[in-house]
Amino acid sequence: MSGDKLRFGLVGLGKFVEIAHLPCYYETAYSDHIELAGICDLSQARLDELAPRCPGAETYTDHKKMFAEAGIDAVVIVTPDHAHTRIVLDALDAGLDVVVEKPLCMLTTEAVDIVEKARKLGRLVVVDFHKRFDPVHLALRERVLGGHYGAVQTAYSWMQDEITVPCGGFFKSDLAAKSSPVWFLGVHFFDVMRFITGLEPIEVRATAYKDEVPAQGVDTYDAVKADFIMNNGASFTFVVSWNLPKGAPALTVQGMTLQCAKGHIALDTTDRGWRDLSSEGNRCINPNFLHRLGKNYRGYAVESPGEGLMEIIEHRKTPFSPKTHPDSFALNGLYATLMGQAVDASLAAGTTMRDGHALVGATININDFLTEQVGADRAKPFLISIE
Ligand SMILES: NC(=O)c1ccc[n+]([C@@H]2O[C@H](COP(=O)([O-])OP(=O)(O)OC[C@H]3O[C@@H](n4cnc5c(N)ncnc54)[C@H](O)[C@@H]3O)[C@@H](O)[C@H]2O)c1
Repeated sequence: MSGDKLRFGLVGLGKFVEIAHLPCYYETAYSDHIELAGICDLSQARLDELAPRCPGAETYTDHKKMFAEAGIDAVVIVTPDHAHTRIVLDALDAGLDVVVEKPLCMLTTEAVDIVEKARKLGRLVVVDFHKRFDPVHLALRERVLGGHYGAVQTAYSWMQDEITVPCGGFFKSDLAAKSSPVWFLGVHFFDVMRFITGLEPIEVRATAYKDEVPAQGVDTYDAVKADFIMNNGASFTFVVSWNLPKGAPALTVQGMTLQCAKGHIALDTTDRGWRDLSSEGNRCINPNFLHRLGKNYRGYAVESPGEGLMEIIEHRKTPFSPKTHPDSFALNGLYATLMGQAVDASLAAGTTMRDGHALVGATININDFLTEQVGADRAKPFLISIE
């Protein structure tokens, strides 16, 4: 801390830093409490491009050098999905608290390594799962967990990006080819459905499709559907894709329905009642993501990383414990990663049809899969109990 401000570093200066992180650091109510002291990217050209927007921050091409030299207590990690783990573990070893983009990582073994190390060293690892900060999800969670609708029976959710995201030069790195709709989109909804319902996954079977995205030069799935059984017997279906044709009603189309014993909920989080016809086409605008009040930005895009940094400030005053704040020690990240990797495992163990364009997965038991990945002793604290 310098004075009352948390000094922190930022690793990875890609697309999402411009969309959410820089507005969060410089144009929100959080700005008074934080100071971006160092920025790091492998690309010197990207550092040169963004340095003028990060006044006072030293520039680095090596995250370990920044951790050693920038005089920081925390770091925000916004590297591609596959490049989170090493930097998170190095940050913990350097005594830093961490905010990391979703997904925490792409392997369950790495997620357990991170949670165990964070718990052992007493350092926070907060995952930027911003769907948790969308006011409609917060209100729905209160009603579901408050028993308003009775037992959750089935849920169906979808999150679909326009094909310009994986194939249109959206990313500053090779993220799209090394990720998939499961990791870029699915983890958002795996997490928020756990958050809203309090239910945990016990089994999954997935199907996936490879057509248009590989045809446009990026070798990953177009679309994945994952059918989970949850630990109260509920059935949750997740449909994620990033092959919507150009001209979709929004860059991201999303929503959910829940069928419960005493109620039914239909949540359209694409169309928030604002249809906009402009040079960009006929699009839905989502003010909950980002809007201004006076000079400050608000909205879940900035509130999620901002609240992560505020948790770190609180923790440095009065340390949190993994028992009272399990998600601040990355437990939510671990379960989203476990769900994502179980989907990958289902597809790997299945069969292909239509010359490999369609994959029909096998059924995977989540507790057995976790145990296979990390061994019985390390799996034990994280095993899911059945209601
Ligand atoms: N919360 C959200 O809704 C949301 C939205 C978009 C992206 N994301 C996540 O944010 C992360 C970044 O996404 P993006 O769209 O900004 O990606 P991007 O490809 O545009 O940028 C990634 C940046 O990280 C840099 N980088 C890669 N490895 C590095 C390393 N070892 N050290 C330093 N820099 C390194 C690259 O040079 C690049 O500038 C991903 O994990 C993604 O899933 C989250």
